[in-house]
Amino acid sequence: MQIYDLIQKTRRKESLSPEEIKFLVNGFTENQIPDYMMSAWLMAVCCQGLTDQETVSLTLAMRDSGECLDLSGIGEITVDKHSTGGIGDKTTLLIAPIVAACGGFVPKMSGRGLGFTGGTIDKLESIPGFSVEMPVPDFIRQVRKIGCAVISQSGNLTPADKKIYALRNLTATVDSIPLICSSIMSKKLALGADCILLDVKCGNGAFMKTPEEAVSLAEAMVRAGNLAGKKCRAMITDMNAPLGHAVGNALEVEEVIYILQGHEENALSDLALELSAHMLELSGKGDLQTCRRMASEAVASGKALEKLGAMIEAQGGDASVTEDTNKLPEAKCKKFFQAETSGYLSGIHSEKVGLACLELGAGKTASRQEIDHSAGIVFLHDIGDQIKQGEILAVIHGSSDSLCEQAESRLREAVRITEQKPEKTSLIYQTVSGIS
Ligand code: URA
Repeated sequence: MQIYDLIQKTRRKESLSPEEIKFLVNGFTENQIPDYMMSAWLMAVCCQGLTDQETVSLTLAMRDSGECLDLSGIGEITVDKHSTGGIGDKTTLLIAPIVAACGGFVPKMSGRGLGFTGGTIDKLESIPGFSVEMPVPDFIRQVRKIGCAVISQSGNLTPADKKIYALRNLTATVDSIPLICSSIMSKKLALGADCILLDVKCGNGAFMKTPEEAVSLAEAMVRAGNLAGKKCRAMITDMNAPLGHAVGNALEVEEVIYILQGHEENALSDLALELSAHMLELSGKGDLQTCRRMASEAVASGKALEKLGAMIEAQGGDASVTEDTNKLPEAKCKKFFQAETSGYLSGIHSEKVGLACLELGAGKTASRQEIDHSAGIVFLHDIGDQIKQGEILAVIHGSSDSLCEQAESRLREAVRITEQKPEKTSLIYQTVSGIS
């Protein structure tokens, strides 16, 4: 087999066999195929796409490039959730304890922030003492005992994705549906949960900008999951505005605690309850209506908050943050962001908010490798709220006045106030069901 011929075939939209795809993936992972050849093939995929069968073959070849976890030691049906990434997306921190409080089992390996999007692992590390690393046998023991564990990816899972992803990042080949599908699903399949719920984000703060693209990605991922023998479902959800009120690591943990304490109900809590209900239904805990009720009761009774505390304690963190959020890191400087005009809050551009938070230090950049866990932005209003000139719309948290001022000008570009009240839109666009 010649790599040159495979690049040529994809470039001409001729399909590759599963063996040819395996040859490419294994050859690249084992350093037998140089970066320039793999880059050419990735660019051909970006421009010409892959067939459904090729996408599945690529996903399975990437899954099999490393070890796959055996979660059978948990002894129960396990359910995983994956979000394709967004701004202020802290749903994992809500769904893991909610589902566990309802008798579900959530073994979760999460990632760090990527570009302008935040990562669950960075959020958890803002809890004093919390450890995101754990040997797999301990991970399995914790899920069996408490019902949930959230750690960073460990071991030799999907080495092909690590190498291919790094190359895609440098060669403008990230936003391709077959490449995103195979990257995400190879990791999910290697993790080994029985059921997978995918939260496919759609909008200006997501990789998929339109509902059509998001549905295509969701269908590809559900198909790959089903063909690999997993129960799989996807929900397409809005990412045109940040999810919830807080963006930034400790600030998002604080928001999660407020919701689980029952002090806050918003679009984020609604979404978390709906995702939890689907995860419970996928794991066979009842029909969707019953699972919705179970999820709401877990929050109302305080059981989900208790589970979060149990998970924090099991992972070495200070569980008293669930009662006193003052124990989370706090920024040195705070700056009020005031409305310049009166009207209705009709848009908050999530990508711009993500970039403002990145500049505040909430994520890593090429020039800054340390995260400021206390940095970020908290919005005090929801889309559709009537606003008066001078009213405080948000609070900027940063380590210096100059960083807060820089974020303020970014935020000016992100916030839209109009005379007309915006139409209320649903956070959940559509569900893509697979074979269950
Ligand atoms: N997240 C991933 O893990 N991979 C992608 O390609 C995009 C988002």
